[in-house]
Amino acid sequence: MSIDPLTPVLTDTWDRDRSWTLETYEDAGGYRGLHKALALTPAEVISAVKDSGLRGRGGAGFPTGMKWDFIPTGDDKPHYLVVNADESEPGTCKDIPLMLAAPHTLIEGVIISSYAIGARHAFVYVRGEVLHVVRRLHQAVREAYRAGHVGADIHGSGYDLDIIVHAGAGAYICGEETALLDSLEGRRGQPRLRPPFPAIAGLYAGPTVINNVESIASVPVILDQGPDWFSSMGTEKSKGMTLYSVSGHVEQPGQFEAPLGITLRRLVELAGGVRAGHQLKFWTPGGSSTPILTDEHLDVPLDYEGIAAAGSMLGTKALQIFDETVSVVRTTLRWVEFYKHESCGKCTPCREGTWWMVQVLQRLEAGKGSEEDVDLLLDMSDNMAGRSFCALADGTAACVLSAIQYFRDEFVAGSHTPAWELFPYAASMLHPVTSAVGAAR
Ligand SMILES: Cc1cc2nc3c(=O)[nH]c(=O)nc-3n(C[C@H](O)[C@H](O)[C@H](O)COP(=O)(O)O)c2cc1C
Ligand code: SF4
Repeated sequence: MSIDPLTPVLTDTWDRDRSWTLETYEDAGGYRGLHKALALTPAEVISAVKDSGLRGRGGAGFPTGMKWDFIPTGDDKPHYLVVNADESEPGTCKDIPLMLAAPHTLIEGVIISSYAIGARHAFVYVRGEVLHVVRRLHQAVREAYRAGHVGADIHGSGYDLDIIVHAGAGAYICGEETALLDSLEGRRGQPRLRPPFPAIAGLYAGPTVINNVESIASVPVILDQGPDWFSSMGTEKSKGMTLYSVSGHVEQPGQFEAPLGITLRRLVELAGGVRAGHQLKFWTPGGSSTPILTDEHLDVPLDYEGIAAAGSMLGTKALQIFDETVSVVRTTLRWVEFYKHESCGKCTPCREGTWWMVQVLQRLEAGKGSEEDVDLLLDMSDNMAGRSFCALADGTAACVLSAIQYFRDEFVAGSHTPAWELFPYAASMLHPVTSAVGAAR
């Protein structure tokens, strides 16, 4: 018997009528986890999350329960929970659908997590450009207040919580957790020097936990179904189910929820295969800042250890699929242009390095570069990675280094032939331009 690799847990209610309402969520068993959590002590809730093996879904995979355990107990400072809903990495597109389709999964997670760490104020920092998501979150929070899930003396437990939804102004760097805190405090969003770490001095210098949307949204089901149920899914060190976002050159792109450790081969099959008549050329395991992989890596388990052993990072599990029609030079240039635009400018290797990389990549894309330019890119990457203030520069270097590692010949070809001749745009377009306006562009 073949076992269905898909595990709809977070996505279970997404296709229901008005899935975003409290009524639909509660009909499907929503807020049961909250009631169970309130019957436990905060320390017991933290133990349950630790036992589940849940690791942060925002990129680095840090154990969530352990992060919560760093928050001091018995101090007299206010504690804060901050949800990182800034989702802006190219290719990453899981938190926004989750908040749109089932915002109460997140809200319930926020209440349980805040209770666990003794926070009386929780903030959801959401990317401001997605106004429809901001509205939906506000509406879900209002519903939760009306139902007594949030506010004073939640369900007679004596526990009080207020939730504030804050719309950011659309800067990728504000997804970096300490830049996010500065932005939330009303300052320019730039990463902070650590230590002190947010668990000791975070928002308004109080002990603060910052977690990704999907991490927090995974908490209710752990309380409801139990940590053993959660950890029965996944692999030895990467537990539970997760959202894989498959985009690009596949027949049916979308969100696929599956236990950690599924392979790209299986996910691409579920997505209807690489688009008809084409083959996989390269892919990102977790957004554009994770080193690219190729068709050699189709059977690597998509968990933290498997992808690390293959030389990349699981990141946000944003699987962008590129077929043989795509120029690696052009793709790398587009990504580096993004990082150049989003660099906050605080440190020189990143501010200057991303700008110079764009100049060199533009030359190579136009077929006006030289072979030395390829080594120059390697040298620039070396001067940025590990020598900058935050991981934005590391991510930029990683995408350039991995692209040259696997496709050096294409970069060298940039010394004589434009990428648009080797890889014409029209061949890689998903939806060929047919309108008069599009054709004129
Ligand atoms: C430039 C940059 C952008 C980031 N953007 C996000 C983001 O949009 N969402 C997110 O959850 N984490 C983002 N992160 C990672 C956060 O700093 C942090 O590790 C994460 O929110 C922790 O949550 P987790 O433990 O639940 O994974 C970003 C990091 C960097 C360096
Ligand atoms: S690495 Fe880039 S984004 Fe990060 S602090 Fe330095 S300049 Fe800002």
